[in-house]
Amino acid sequence: MDSGAQNRGQWGSKLGFILAAAGSAIGLGNIWRFPATAGQNGGGAFVAVYLASIVIICFAVMIAELALGRNTQRNPVGVYKKLAPGSSWKYFGVLGVLTGWGISSFYSVVAGWTLGYIYKTATGAFSNASPQQISQIFGDFVSNPVSAIGFHAAFMVITMLILFGGVKSGIERWSKILMPVLLVILILLVIRSVTLPGAEKGLAFLLQPKWDELTGRGVLAAVGQAFFSLSLGMGTMITYGSYLSRKENLFESAAWVCTLDTLIALLAGLAIFPALFTIPGLEPTIGAGLIFVVLPNIFNKIFLGGLFGTGFFILLAIAAVTSLISIVEVPVAYFVDELKWSRKKAVWVGGLGAFIVGIPAALSLGAVGWLSSVMTIEGRNYGFLDLMNLLFGQYSLIIGSLGVALFVGWRWGVSSINKEIEQGHPGYRHQALYGFLIRFLSPIIIAGLLIYLLIDPNAFA
Ligand code: TRP
Repeated sequence: MDSGAQNRGQWGSKLGFILAAAGSAIGLGNIWRFPATAGQNGGGAFVAVYLASIVIICFAVMIAELALGRNTQRNPVGVYKKLAPGSSWKYFGVLGVLTGWGISSFYSVVAGWTLGYIYKTATGAFSNASPQQISQIFGDFVSNPVSAIGFHAAFMVITMLILFGGVKSGIERWSKILMPVLLVILILLVIRSVTLPGAEKGLAFLLQPKWDELTGRGVLAAVGQAFFSLSLGMGTMITYGSYLSRKENLFESAAWVCTLDTLIALLAGLAIFPALFTIPGLEPTIGAGLIFVVLPNIFNKIFLGGLFGTGFFILLAIAAVTSLISIVEVPVAYFVDELKWSRKKAVWVGGLGAFIVGIPAALSLGAVGWLSSVMTIEGRNYGFLDLMNLLFGQYSLIIGSLGVALFVGWRWGVSSINKEIEQGHPGYRHQALYGFLIRFLSPIIIAGLLIYLLIDPNAFA
């Protein structure tokens, strides 16, 4: 038995862990953020960079996070404190805790929209509506301050209720049932989307890289999206790894999570872009509203579309909840482990903090003028939600991942992590390759991206 395992709890089974970690990874990032970001950055070339970063960097970083968590059985700040006492490494953990709030603020706002859309699709708000009317309904919905804040609050309450009760059996059990259902609905949507007349245009947009359209920002956005989608860079996987038994094979677990997550993102792209290009007046660059505008149009063209639509948004809300729990759990675990707060107090402070930072994000989609346009970068307007998404959902995760790679590669050491990987993986033979990936390749690529940003502040855009 692992030391401390009795107190901290463990995943019930290997499948349970994989589905819980996949439940964290698979969420709004795959179905909402991936298509919206790909659409704003030219499509195919973005997708190619995204896939390459998963294989080259993210897989190694995910193993590193899981190994750090399993080895120390601690939250992200505790990991650095335990393995490098008295050093400044812990600030990477602190950044992770703050990033938990930064991300959950806008995550909960968008997740709240899915609640509103469950209601709208169930009551037929979109049936027989034209594409223009559907865009209008979305615009009116997100710019209404009462529903924007109300649904954000409702979603945060659901998240906090689950966190109060402890997550383990809930997440494990529900992930096992709901993830397969989500997959089936998504596949049906893909079939409908790719068989619409004129679907080739969308397939080409998503799958044929046009390299000359790829900008520096597009590369950054693609790498950032890969980290976001895999829940890396802020300590979620450290925390989930801390509940993992030493019997489990870290390579295999990480490979499953990466594969399932990538599969769902690509399916979401295949569901959305072919349909989008068949609807006059819709552009792939519309951003945050993309799925909320495109999908109701597809549901209007499907037999029993209303039912599918409601089912889809219910599942999206559930996928979002299993992810948001894992985001808020990082500050919560920090409060419990390091500040010795009760779980109840930790969830109150963690959840309320995220709710408060989310209020300006909720009001930034048209409800309050200046929040809708906080700054302009290279001609692109950023509202408060976009800015939080960029700062915390992107740059902060890149910095956090750089911290993990440097720490494991150069401070904790390649032989220590290889020893951790060998537990649960007898016959493991990739020590040298893994050492190269975590010591050199990952940090060099990640640091290169950061330097690029510092030299050319406009690369920010
Ligand atoms: N990966 C989740 C998604 O795709 C969101 C998420 C959960 C996350 N935990 C995270 C993102 C940690 C960044 C860091 O929706």
